[in-house]
Amino acid sequence: MTLLAENKVTIVTGGARGIGRATSLLFAKEGSKVVVSDILESEGMETVQMIQNAGGEAQFISCDTASEEDVALMVERTISVYGRVDNLVNNAGVEHISTIIDMERSDFDRLSSINLRGVWLCMKYVIKAMLKHGNKGSIVNMSSLAGNVGYAGLGAYVMSKHGVNGLTKVAAIEHSADGIRTNSICPGCIQTPMIDNLAAAMGNPEAKEQLAAMHPIGRLGTADEIAEAIVWVCSERASFVTGSIFTVDGGWVAQ
Ligand SMILES: NC(=O)c1ccc[n+]([C@@H]2O[C@H](COP(=O)([O-])OP(=O)(O)OC[C@H]3O[C@@H](n4cnc5c(N)ncnc54)[C@H](O)[C@@H]3O)[C@@H](O)[C@H]2O)c1
Repeated sequence: MTLLAENKVTIVTGGARGIGRATSLLFAKEGSKVVVSDILESEGMETVQMIQNAGGEAQFISCDTASEEDVALMVERTISVYGRVDNLVNNAGVEHISTIIDMERSDFDRLSSINLRGVWLCMKYVIKAMLKHGNKGSIVNMSSLAGNVGYAGLGAYVMSKHGVNGLTKVAAIEHSADGIRTNSICPGCIQTPMIDNLAAAMGNPEAKEQLAAMHPIGRLGTADEIAEAIVWVCSERASFVTGSIFTVDGGWVAQ
């Protein structure tokens, strides 16, 4: 028996790799049809292929979440292919390393356009579709330990993830009574291409070990561990859970 009810449809943004890929695979394994959405077409198609090879159902839809036109089309295509959308995993995101005084406006704007505007746009179009088709739903916004605490050199990223948690709370207040639950997941450092880039930018061969040691659990997390939390939040087992900011961070913010 699968964790999710039959015939559910889940959109995962940033589903081409990392946490988004692991999440897409787990949703499919737990019985959902999956729309894998990303700007990386070949890696996104690879995620779809992995799902299909395991006997699941998935489609790739190219979408830059910073673009309102792309997001509107992605949701429209999901409805035209599957007739509904039940879950949105608002996962696409980027990092940028710079102190507040050294940060360029173009980097700040680019990061905000994906990590904040993109999250809002996806919620806007998916919630409208859920309301129009009269189905209940679940939205998971991908935040971070950086949505709960600051981290030097990650000002724009920290700002965006705190903002994501704010959007989560407001969406939960505005739409829980419609049957649409919204929650944030705040991972610690997870072994994905993003953490490889971050460690490389720290310019220190020990960077990944140092990041791992900052978690009380003593290691980095895996994308699969984050996917487990996301799928649970979207399942009926979490039917009273909305407006929550979940830490899945190996104990980072407990310190
Ligand atoms: N890896 C970590 O340690 C960590 C920790 C906390 C939170 N997160 C968050 O989890 C999410 C996924 O991170 P990850 O580690 O898997 O990163 P990743 O870089 O491995 O994957 C991110 C995916 O998002 C896609 N993407 C980027 N910009 C996009 C856009 N404009 N439109 C559509 N897709 C876009 C990328 O192409 C990529 O496939 C991000 O929101 C990230 O901030 C990651």
